[in-house]
Amino acid sequence: MKLIIDTDPGVDDAMAIIYAALAPDIELLGLTTVFGNVNIEQATRNALWLLEFIGQDAAVAKGAAMTLEGKTIAPSYNVHGDEGFGEYPAQKPKHSALEETAAEFLCRMAREHKGELVVCPIGPITNIAHAIQLDPEFATNVKKIVFMGGAAKVPGNITPHAEANTYHDPHALNIVINSGANVTMVGLDVTMLEPCQEEFFDNLAEVSPKFGGFLQEISRFYLKFYESIGVQGCGFHDPAAVIACTHPELFSTEQLPINVIEEGEEFGQTQICLEDEAPKISVCIDADMAQVKAIYNRVFGVDA
Ligand code: RIB
Ligand code: CA
Repeated sequence: MKLIIDTDPGVDDAMAIIYAALAPDIELLGLTTVFGNVNIEQATRNALWLLEFIGQDAAVAKGAAMTLEGKTIAPSYNVHGDEGFGEYPAQKPKHSALEETAAEFLCRMAREHKGELVVCPIGPITNIAHAIQLDPEFATNVKKIVFMGGAAKVPGNITPHAEANTYHDPHALNIVINSGANVTMVGLDVTMLEPCQEEFFDNLAEVSPKFGGFLQEISRFYLKFYESIGVQGCGFHDPAAVIACTHPELFSTEQLPINVIEEGEEFGQTQICLEDEAPKISVCIDADMAQVKAIYNRVFGVDA
């Protein structure tokens, strides 16, 4: 599967990117970066360094620094750390991002791999909305868009109503949902089904000292944040979205009409709307998370 991950790395973004680079059934064509967990400069630096760390020769295209409507959002440093990887110090990559913007790269890749490219946004979905506005054929050139975000039948995580990625650019998500693309939502309904405990990262580190060891180190800060809000274990958000791209059979979905609320108390909520004309997307409402995690572990060498 030809894949581009749109990312705001980010601890669970790093979990997803390392998995995608190691997975034998994924051809990672590149990363596009976006504001969110960190600012755009940090997101782009982290993406470039991570691919070098993994030894993965894939492009990085820098994307949006702010929302589609030009609003600047404060990074979630309290969740992912001041540099995006917990307390792991900022790293200086050797390579630079492409000259192309994220939206230009996405549109070109979708044209060059028409009907084959899967796009997996795991941050605010701003770059994808830009690509849809840049190229009217983008939405139908891509095979599917599988995004991490939203909360259909469960509470939010950044507010009681909204999940963080959708809260950070609800207008962009409405554009993607209404674009005519084949869209799957991997939200908190499934990514919080089985939070990852410390032992999950210990096991990764034991069999994969370099990659697992890195994830074990950067997960400490992330686990502490969840503990501070009374949750034992951390969300398996971004890696679940990547695995939903290649193993959709592990996810139970409903075709639901989703509208993202763009004002008021429920700002950022992915609301199941009752107007018939609202476009329906595939919403993950359950998943075999034990099997999803077994597939994740397998690429690091951890037996199920
Ligand atoms: O709500 C979880 C999502 O927000 C994840 O993608 C996490 O990395 C943050 O971007
Ligand atoms: Ca993310």
